[in-house]
Amino acid sequence: MGNIKKIETLNQKRKETMLGGGEKAIQKQKESGKLTARERIDLLLDKGSFNEYDLFAQHEGRDFGMSDKVLNGDGVIIGTGTVNGSPVCVFAQDFTVSGGSLGLMHAKKITKIMDVALNMRIPLIGINDSGGARIQEGVSALAGYGEIFYRNTQASGVIPQISVILGPCAGGAVYSPALTDYVFVVDKVSKMFITGPEVIKTVLGEEISMEDLGGARVHSEITGNAHFFAENEDDCFKQIRKLLSFIPHNNKKAAEEKETKMPALKLDINKIVPEDPTKPYDVRDVIKSVIDDSDFVEVQEKFAQNIVVGYGRINGKTVGFIANQPLYLAGVLDVDSSDKAARFIRYCDAFNIPVVTFVDLPGYLPGVDQEHAGVIRHGAKILYAYSEATVPKITVILRKAYGGGYIAMSSRHLNADFVYAWPTAEIAVMGPQGAANIIFRKEIMEAENPEEMRKQKVEEYKERFANPYVAAARGYVDSVIEPSETRNMLIHSLKICENKAEVKTEKKHGIPPF
Ligand code: HXC
Repeated sequence: MGNIKKIETLNQKRKETMLGGGEKAIQKQKESGKLTARERIDLLLDKGSFNEYDLFAQHEGRDFGMSDKVLNGDGVIIGTGTVNGSPVCVFAQDFTVSGGSLGLMHAKKITKIMDVALNMRIPLIGINDSGGARIQEGVSALAGYGEIFYRNTQASGVIPQISVILGPCAGGAVYSPALTDYVFVVDKVSKMFITGPEVIKTVLGEEISMEDLGGARVHSEITGNAHFFAENEDDCFKQIRKLLSFIPHNNKKAAEEKETKMPALKLDINKIVPEDPTKPYDVRDVIKSVIDDSDFVEVQEKFAQNIVVGYGRINGKTVGFIANQPLYLAGVLDVDSSDKAARFIRYCDAFNIPVVTFVDLPGYLPGVDQEHAGVIRHGAKILYAYSEATVPKITVILRKAYGGGYIAMSSRHLNADFVYAWPTAEIAVMGPQGAANIIFRKEIMEAENPEEMRKQKVEEYKERFANPYVAAARGYVDSVIEPSETRNMLIHSLKICENKAEVKTEKKHGIPPF
């Protein structure tokens, strides 16, 4: 065969193989409201930057009629490309080929690209759309999953790992996304569960749709398994590209710096924090009024909304924000918000992203439900995460900082580098009402007018403790600042912390309250 013919043959083979499961299967994929694996890669990467590997890989299955079955690319596409000009690794399961089911070669392709990502220290993005372990390949398929989980764990904290759920992700397959850093889901497209509706019906006799069991909203709002929710696939890939512009691409590299732009939102104390301490406000307005261009990337926006976590830039550099949200459950810490914050803090620490904490909370959420759900164990995670983190930690107390909440939210005592308070801060063991009722109970009961006496004692308590000055007098607060000074204080403090070198106690690793 002449050279020209050989090249023609290559191009013909490429064309056929790149069709995946063929026209009919592609049609079915489209009819179910999904893009194809190749369209997804195109949306993710910079135009024309994709280099594919193992296009001609084939499975070696011999059982159940597999020996003469050709599965193009073995149901997964792998390769490298760029996002915003920076290199990334990607795999995308191709549902048109045997339902994107995972056999041994399929898994080998995934682990190959995972190895490239880890060796080259570049982010890994995995697009999941699969019926799970390829049933015909038995234990080989299970082995494949194990190899993936092992690599997810090795890569954790070294490179960002992003999972995109764009179809079914069932059974043990869910544990790869669960081991990665960010899970993206798309409304009505993503389905993620351990046991599907049919098993549930057989075992428990309960009927439930896939959507209600493990759809995008369920994982964004209830389980917290997803970190980003998108209305459609196009929006999803835009969100991934944006996130990648905010985070460092490995644990030794800083995030790309952007030109500094002043916040679009002005910090007007009278508009943001109401005079009445029982009234809520949106803490995202505080974040947006201190970050460049007010451009905030919120993580797990719809889950445990009593705490807000996400990224913004200050003077062009990425910062992680953790803020109690008075709009939701008064910003209390509970099981879910502790989990959410602790994980985010650990991520920032692993990737050297400074942490800024805004505090306004009445404490941990009381109640039998919370106690029985393990609020002690989960609540401890946030203490552990802050205490363990060696990145710059700057805290601003906006309003309430009561009890355990005061300690937990990156207090000086957990080794925060700088702690500031607004004049509206109230730092005490508990709120004035509760405190006055306990310590002045006798006086209130014995007074001629108990209500009047209660009011008087609440005022007395507020005067003495519900302010930032007692903590400032002890050096627990470094400076009481005007709200309008916050951005400049953060810029200055982050500069001071730039070469922070905190020595850790030597040990293999600690045992966090997982
Ligand atoms: C082999 C599979 C497959 C699988 C789907 N297919 N799942 N082949 N192994 N796990 C094939 C189908 O036979 C079909 O092949 C093609 O993919 C498309 O599947 P359909 O059923 O026609 O598609 P759809 O109606 O959209 O339904 C999708 C589905 C369903 C909901 C995912 O296919 C399904 O329930 N599959 C089985 C899911 C499952 O139980 N997986 C095992 C989980 S246990 P043809 O040739 O007709 O096109 C697991 C253990 C992992 O994963 C443990 C790791 C620790």
